[in-house]
Amino acid sequence: MTETLPRVLLIGPPGAGKGTQAQKLSEHFDVPHLSAGDLLRAEVEQETKAGKEAKPYLDEGKLVPEKIVVEIMLKNMFWDNPKTGFVVDGFPRNIGQFNQMQSHLKEHDETLDCVVNLQLSEEEVFRRLTGRRVCGECNTNFHTEFRPPEEPGTCDQCGGALKQRDDDTPETIEERLEVFENESKPVSERFEKEGIQVNVDASGTIEQVFQEIRRRVERSQ
Ligand code: AP5
Repeated sequence: MTETLPRVLLIGPPGAGKGTQAQKLSEHFDVPHLSAGDLLRAEVEQETKAGKEAKPYLDEGKLVPEKIVVEIMLKNMFWDNPKTGFVVDGFPRNIGQFNQMQSHLKEHDETLDCVVNLQLSEEEVFRRLTGRRVCGECNTNFHTEFRPPEEPGTCDQCGGALKQRDDDTPETIEERLEVFENESKPVSERFEKEGIQVNVDASGTIEQVFQEIRRRVERSQ
């Protein structure tokens, strides 16, 4: 592995484990974890102008308009910390976002090391999302079956209360899967063509999937 900090994007269907793996990669490589979903939910929580505009889209499982998402993500990825590493989860998610990010990379002579495309069946997506619980304080992810907290309902990391995400209902999960199929799959096809994407089977345990991604990221540097 070289001394440079990796720049990694994690893409894949809802519930594939992007957030879980991004958090582990961020700790392992000591780079920031930038989650498009978490950054948008923070805007909603703070009732900013962008957050007010984004809320109905998040509630319905639809993509938030491009002008809001692209600005937030490019700011966090490049403007605030140019030339450093990161693990991004959930961006870009449609061809418009992909094109805007590519233009930025070209214009500013920036590069990415690796795009990890997590692959998981719809059946497993449902199991993972309906059992997910998230800490309201520190955002750590748990699962009632696969990653239970030591004390039910309480975060192991900070003691905060665990809750179910508003968009983890069966109807909204269906919508998110449809959006993924129609809008996000073409993005992975473009990364595949560019030769920068690695496909990882996300059906193993959290640790198995992590070791595979870590190996592939190190190889890409
Ligand atoms: P976002 O928050 O990104 O949601 P998502 O893509 O639907 O992905 P999730 O966070 O639901 O799942 P994940 O893949 O991170 O899985 P996790 O690690 O939590 O986006 C939400 C919304 O924001 C979108 O619908 C949209 O409205 C908006 N948005 C976001 N990005 C946008 C963009 N670029 N453009 C426009 N709008 C955007 O794992 C799930 C569960 O499974 C957890 O409980 C976890 O503990 C468990 N688990 C994880 N890995 C494993 C494993 N290997 N084995 C067993 N259990 C596991």
